[in-house]
Amino acid sequence: MTSAEQPKPYGTEQSKAPVPPRRVRTSYLQQLKDTGGRFAMLTAYDQHTAQIFDEAGIETLLIGDSAANNVMGHETTLPITLDEMIVFAKSVSAGAKRALIVCDLPFGSYEVSPAQAIESSVRLMKEAGVQAVKMEGGAHYADHVRAMTAAGIPVMAHVGFTPQSEHALGGYKVQGRGDAAQAVIDDATALADAGAFCVLMEMVPADVAAAVDAAVRVPTIGIGAGNATTGQVLVWQDMAGMRGGKAPRFVKAFADVRSVLSTAAREYADEVRSGTFPGPEHSF
Ligand code: KIV
Repeated sequence: MTSAEQPKPYGTEQSKAPVPPRRVRTSYLQQLKDTGGRFAMLTAYDQHTAQIFDEAGIETLLIGDSAANNVMGHETTLPITLDEMIVFAKSVSAGAKRALIVCDLPFGSYEVSPAQAIESSVRLMKEAGVQAVKMEGGAHYADHVRAMTAAGIPVMAHVGFTPQSEHALGGYKVQGRGDAAQAVIDDATALADAGAFCVLMEMVPADVAAAVDAAVRVPTIGIGAGNATTGQVLVWQDMAGMRGGKAPRFVKAFADVRSVLSTAAREYADEVRSGTFPGPEHSF
């Protein structure tokens, strides 16, 4: 490689865009924020989707506690346990080699104290191989984030609508409208100041999310939070058109995987019933 071809040191005039790394780390997401770049995050709960999304270049994968509704069939995210999250997270870690793997701290695994949050995070990092955790809640968790960060745990804060508090919030509702906007900005700022490497915002008005992104130094991620955040996240089944029924306004289905699977299942069953599958080429 000639000196002209050498990647320029990050931060110089000539090299505005950071070089995509072999393994995405929190520092890379920060570089993207610093240089006006953007990144994508998707949920994943199993080895194969993790591998597909990893190979597709998705920068970060989230083992969301949305596994409770999207995989396990619960009504809310509340019932999923830390042990169950560890099973899903192990599968994702086995499938993804490049993406930054972030795992949700499920309801009941961190609220009691910073020590409880550290213990749960250590289990996720040690037993399931995740590289960061995500924790729902506002400024009142700043001490948690400070203690976790000091313990070497990268923390993604999750503010705005926090599904684990849906009963306290009175259902799935946009947060931060009108006078409530400042509270979202204050939550994000307090958590970023406490050491969170990234702030995720769910269902907040686009202008409030933009104000948060401008107020915090760290990268931001949005879901139903407009277009001004550094990154975007979607639940993969929503992104791929896997689930039936009405999707939330912020969802865009980029494929119709539900139809593809349905067609495949029908064709398979037809061939089994007609005796054409398995054929000689599938037999020993
Ligand atoms: O659990 C999850 O999937 C999430 C996303 C909605 C951000 O927290």
